[in-house]
Amino acid sequence: MHRFSLRHTMPPLLTTTLLLLLLLSTSLLTTAQHTYPPPGACTGNCTGSVHDPSVVRRADGTYFRFTTNGRINIATAPSIAGPWTYQGCALPHGSRIALPGRDDLWAPDVLQVDGVFFLTYSVSAIGSRHSDIGVATSETMEAGTWTDHGSIGVPDGKGKWNRIDSNLLQLAPTQPATVYLTWGSFWTGIHQTQMLNPPLRVLNPNTSVHLEQNTTVRPQGRPKGASEGSYQFRWTLAGDGGTWIYLFFSSGGCCNIPPHLAPPGEEYKIMVCRSLTPTGPFFDREGRDCVSDNGGTLVLGSHGDVFAPGGQGVMFDEGLGGVVVYYHYVRPSVGYGYGDFVFGWNGLDFGSGWPVVVALEDSYAGTESASAKTAGNGTSGAAETGSEGVVATESSRLGATSTLTSGGARGRG
Ligand SMILES: *[C@@H]1O[C@H](CO)[C@@H](O)[C@H](O)[C@H]1NC(C)=O
Ligand SMILES: *[C@@H]1O[C@H](CO)[C@@H](O)[C@H](O)[C@H]1NC(C)=O
Ligand SMILES: *[C@@H]1O[C@H](CO)[C@@H](O)[C@H](O)[C@H]1NC(C)=O
Ligand SMILES: *[C@@H]1O[C@H](CO)[C@@H](O)[C@H](O)[C@H]1NC(C)=O
Repeated sequence: MHRFSLRHTMPPLLTTTLLLLLLLSTSLLTTAQHTYPPPGACTGNCTGSVHDPSVVRRADGTYFRFTTNGRINIATAPSIAGPWTYQGCALPHGSRIALPGRDDLWAPDVLQVDGVFFLTYSVSAIGSRHSDIGVATSETMEAGTWTDHGSIGVPDGKGKWNRIDSNLLQLAPTQPATVYLTWGSFWTGIHQTQMLNPPLRVLNPNTSVHLEQNTTVRPQGRPKGASEGSYQFRWTLAGDGGTWIYLFFSSGGCCNIPPHLAPPGEEYKIMVCRSLTPTGPFFDREGRDCVSDNGGTLVLGSHGDVFAPGGQGVMFDEGLGGVVVYYHYVRPSVGYGYGDFVFGWNGLDFGSGWPVVVALEDSYAGTESASAKTAGNGTSGAAETGSEGVVATESSRLGATSTLTSGGARGRG
């Protein structure tokens, strides 16, 4: 997440009127094109410092949620719906990275590789392009168990990229070396490089791939390429649909408050591109290239009392027996303040080959997934977790047959 503060350039009354008009037209448009279910239930600690969540389900069924600010907030719950209980922070002494922001860490992302949890985070400051990405490890994820290792060695982009919003993807649990880091970047979109094994440092600081950027001119002098918060998710579609890497990202401005809200359509929203390989090329649903043709398909935008959803992660939720997207958003009825942010989540249906936000309860209720989840033995073709974190699903009401291979639990910020 990057917090871009826009200077006021128009008379307040004109701005307000314009915003109201544009907000109205955009919400009508959005309603016409997308019908989103409301966010799934959340109880306990669901608002406040919940920006850029990363959710991981531990083997014992405890959900860990890591969020931006302080020294990385940790909350736990028995399900993604809560009740969430604050546990403390991950890095009580801040980061070893000697940059401003080392005590106010952003955008955590957690991946389990060979039994160890790797937490990557950003050290940055509002408006800064001089940031860095660090990593910490733990065997349990509990507060007080994390060891900081400092910078992972992504080189300074020198204007080409900003080192924020990291995400780790493990291509296959049997190939631990194939862990990819995506990051960035607000100004030039999403970049990627491969990690060493274990993933404490980049494999080669001289090598990177540009996965996504948006060069469309944005209104009000806003920077182009305002996409960030990437999250790569590997998913196998039903039938001969293939195994795809879905590159989720957040497009637009994340955290502005009235009267400085991003112009309608320019506020945070969750987009996706996909590729058969983690290194791309990525295309959107209309076949537009996501680096050279401003591609990106909308997954979740503002609707109803949900404004500027983003900072998302995606996981196969073994508890619910389906894929979920989780994110932060604000409720205009409550307020846009930094402490008004809310943790949200929904199901994702890949039946069309592209992720569609659904109410997970509706999609999976009464399926074999749901009953096997209760039985907990996975023998009826639902969630099955192998010793190496391989998760396979074979049923849903939508008829999808899907196999997920990931590093098991993972999340982003
Ligand atoms: C909720 O979690 C935040 C961190 O995300 C923490 O600062 C706050 O104290 C927690 N609130 C309660 C009531 O535990
Ligand atoms: C990266 O490039 C620098 C400068 O050209 C070189 O010294 C270094 O050996 C390279 N590193 C790798 C891992 O190739
Ligand atoms: C690209 O930027 C334009 C202008 O801000 C925006 O309308 C569009 O949704 C963006 N596309 C993606 C894929 O982020
Ligand atoms: C496994 O689950 C199935 C139904 O989901 C049930 O019939 C079977 O008894 C369960 N087996 C064990 C060992 O729990």
